[in-house]
Amino acid sequence: MTFDFDQVFDRHDTGSTKWSRYPADVLPMWVADMDFAAPPMIIQALQKRLEHPMVGYSVAQDDLREAIVADLWNKYAWRVEPQELIFLPGVESGFNMALKALVQPQQNVVVQVPNYPPLRHAPGHWGLNKVELGFDEQADGSYSTPLATLNESLQGGGALLLSNPHNPLGKAFPREELQAIADICLEHGAWIISDEIHAELCFDGRTHVPMATLSPQVAQRTITLMSASKAYNIAGLKTSFMIIQDRHVRERVNQARCGMVDSVNPLGMEATRIAYSEAAPWLAELKVYLQGNRDYLVEAVRTRLPGIRMNVPQSTYLAWLDCSALGLDNPQQFFLEQAKVGLSAGLDFGDDGQQFVRLNFGCPRALLEEGIARMERSLRNRVA
Ligand SMILES: Cc1ncc(COP(=O)(O)O)c(C=O)c1O
Repeated sequence: MTFDFDQVFDRHDTGSTKWSRYPADVLPMWVADMDFAAPPMIIQALQKRLEHPMVGYSVAQDDLREAIVADLWNKYAWRVEPQELIFLPGVESGFNMALKALVQPQQNVVVQVPNYPPLRHAPGHWGLNKVELGFDEQADGSYSTPLATLNESLQGGGALLLSNPHNPLGKAFPREELQAIADICLEHGAWIISDEIHAELCFDGRTHVPMATLSPQVAQRTITLMSASKAYNIAGLKTSFMIIQDRHVRERVNQARCGMVDSVNPLGMEATRIAYSEAAPWLAELKVYLQGNRDYLVEAVRTRLPGIRMNVPQSTYLAWLDCSALGLDNPQQFFLEQAKVGLSAGLDFGDDGQQFVRLNFGCPRALLEEGIARMERSLRNRVA
């Protein structure tokens, strides 16, 4: 490998959210932020940008728009026009803006659960009626959308808040399932608000399918949210973008930013430009490394963590661990106190999540090994 993903950095005292939540003896494996250095080409570009000592209010330039548009074409054969991008300081503000602009108070907003907590909570911010929809678990352990229930829930229009690839399940939605979901949304005139922030992190040779690429009709009803933040590990630069291909919809959603959602910072925009124009070799190696971590974790859960079960994530660096067989009241608290490993509590992702924890395996292998060894010891001590 050209890039070193094994190097462990001390992130204490850097203001890192991930490393600030717990005392220093806890290994944090929670929030979706990786413990790898950002791509060196991005760091170099930021250093160069800072040779100019001004960082005032900034606006997306043509070269940034063009880098993104070219990337969308290269990765997904998706033809997007530069003016169809709206830049935002976060995907979260984007899906909230879309709900505010497009959904009427009496309409439903469907959110699949378990799901990323800010997606679960977004309808409530706008007084909208949230319908939580579980997944069907198939015999092979994969998850699928219960289409009949989705159909019922969207009878009056409204919106579907989609997380694809899915956090926390690591599900990369296959094209046929997306098509079936889109058909239902189109039939009822529902909006599809598609959070695709993890798009670039698909494993085993899979390619992400953006919802809006299914057809021009689907594109007209879809608001896509993307960012370089997850794949290139630059989440703290708070730069993301929406893709809205229908001009009228774009104007409506953009108006919803008024008074709330400000412009994007210049360093975030420069980092995003470099991510999409120069960092592809880094991303290719990262995916190999992450897939290795995933396989290491799957094997460790099977052989060293009795009572824990997981499906193989198809995407993201997040693993959804089913701890039901351990019979614990609160698995997150158990591993925090007994293993000194800081995981995300399953209950935050859905009311049925009590027996689950989410583990972030986006870290040097040594940290992953350490986390697993700590969890293994805590389970052994419990039995002893
Ligand atoms: C599915 C999903 N959407 C959005 C976000 C947050 O994005 P942002 O920081 O751009 O608001 C995350 C972060 O973990 C996420 O996993």
